[in-house]
Formats: sequence, structure tokens, C-alpha cells
Amino acid sequence: MLLHKIAEVREKVKEWKKQGLTIGLVPTMGALHKGHLSLIKKSVDNCDKTVISVFVNPIQFCPGEDFEKYPRTLDADTKLAESAGVDIVFAPTPAEMYGEGHILSNDFLTYVVPPFFYTDKLCGKSRVGHFDGVCTVVNKLFNIVQPDYAFFGEKDRQQLIIIKKMVKDLNIPLEIIPCPIVREDDGLAMSSRNKYLNPEQRKEALVLKDILLNIKACYNSGIKDVEALTETAYKFLKSCHNLEYLEFRDKNDLELKKVADKDTIVFIAVKIGEVRLIDNISLDS
Ligand code: PAF
Repeated sequence: MLLHKIAEVREKVKEWKKQGLTIGLVPTMGALHKGHLSLIKKSVDNCDKTVISVFVNPIQFCPGEDFEKYPRTLDADTKLAESAGVDIVFAPTPAEMYGEGHILSNDFLTYVVPPFFYTDKLCGKSRVGHFDGVCTVVNKLFNIVQPDYAFFGEKDRQQLIIIKKMVKDLNIPLEIIPCPIVREDDGLAMSSRNKYLNPEQRKEALVLKDILLNIKACYNSGIKDVEALTETAYKFLKSCHNLEYLEFRDKNDLELKKVADKDTIVFIAVKIGEVRLIDNISLDS
């Protein structure tokens, strides 16, 4: 069922709650791919009812980013979601979420602002205000859908860590379920933004997983010093790869690591042409 109005979702949720059914929420910006489908499957398998939101959230895009050109494929998304067992596809307009004339500046909208320590690094460094926009919309979705479980991909690992922190700090009564990264056959992490890559860039995009897998192999062979592990990346980088960051951070609080251990996540962002790609790997196991 495709719903556009908050009131309609609330009505359905009320009915489900009365019947004692558990609700899973998969927040998305649409352009669904196998990565999203893995989150949906986890929710459908574990919850009585599954809601996905499809909303390209204007307040998490910075000026000059791809808000206008972000792929919008609601018809295909709805079909795909429903055939995967989703009960409600919630696709509000910006006006429905933020009010008519949706005045999005923080002079007029109540924002949920995660701690600076978590947002001033990695993607937050080049995308100032991005995680405020994410936390604000995710919080609104939690209030609208009141899920028991919410499913987030480990591909956006900084986002996942920040949302977990928000849920803990604000005592939001639900459980966040992290879901592993889904990759194409050649190892590229699935992302709606992969559509922007031309065939040449698509090949070059493999540099992210090449670097991460090599670091993990070096770590497993006994190299723990982060400087030494970082050095191993340089043999993969070409002039067409614009490395934005390669950082080793703690999986819970994003503290920088000097010595890698099982709690370390290696985060990478590379710009290939105009396309910014991110990936990460856990050094655990
Ligand atoms: O990861 C995303 O697609 C978005 O950041 C999210 C969580 C749906 C919020 O708009």
C-alpha cells in the first residue's frame, strides 16, 4: 500500500499496535537496490509488519549536492517493495514532512543535532549539517511509524553509529538493527549513487574495496600500526582517484585509532570524477 500522508500511516500503525503486531521500519531515499532489499527482507522475516519510507530528504543535502538530480523512481520502488513483502510504502512530499512552504532553515525548524564529536569527521567534514538533517528526518519517521525495529545498512556506517547514539541518548523505544553491506559481484558496495558512474569510472570504483581488502589482509598478517596500514593504500591510487579520507576509527564512538584492533572500522571516501563513493570494513574476524 502506497501512502503519502502522515495521518494515514498513523491510522494504520494504531490499528497494528492494537492487535499487538510488531513493526519494522526501513528508512530509504528510494532508488531501491539489492542493499535496500536485504534490509527489507530482514524486517519482513522478523516483524509482523514492515513499513519503508521513500523520501529524498532535502535537509540532509548540502548546497551544491545532488538533491535535484537524486534518482526518483517511486513506481518501480513501490512494486519492488510490495513484492518483497512490504506492507506500507510511505512516500511523503517535503511539504507533508516540513510544512507548506517548507522553511528548512534551522531558524524555523526544530532539528535533532547529534554530538559534534561524531559529525565533524569523515563524511560530516565535507557535508556540514548533513547528519543534523538525517537525525531530524529519522526521528520524525520514528515518531510517525513508531517501529519496534529500524533497519540501517552498514554501508553508511557513520550514519548508523550516529543514529544508534541518538536512540540511546534520547531513550527512543526501539531497536536499531545493523545490516551488512551488500556488494556487486565484483565487490563494489551497492549504492543508489553508483548510477552516476560511467563505464570507465565504474571500473575505477573498485579501488575502494581493493584498498579495504588489502588493509584487512595486511592486518590479518600481523600489521597493526595504522600508519603502516595506511601506506599500503597508496599502491592502488591513481590520478583519477581523489582520496577524500582513509581513516581508522572505533566502531562505537568513532575515536581515531593509532593501533588497529578488532574494534576498528576502516572508513574510505573517494571521488571519481564528480561521484563521491564511500565504503568501510570492520577488522573484526
Ligand atoms: O541512508 C539514507 O538513505 C538516508 O540517510 C535516510 C536514513 C533514509 C534518511 O533520509
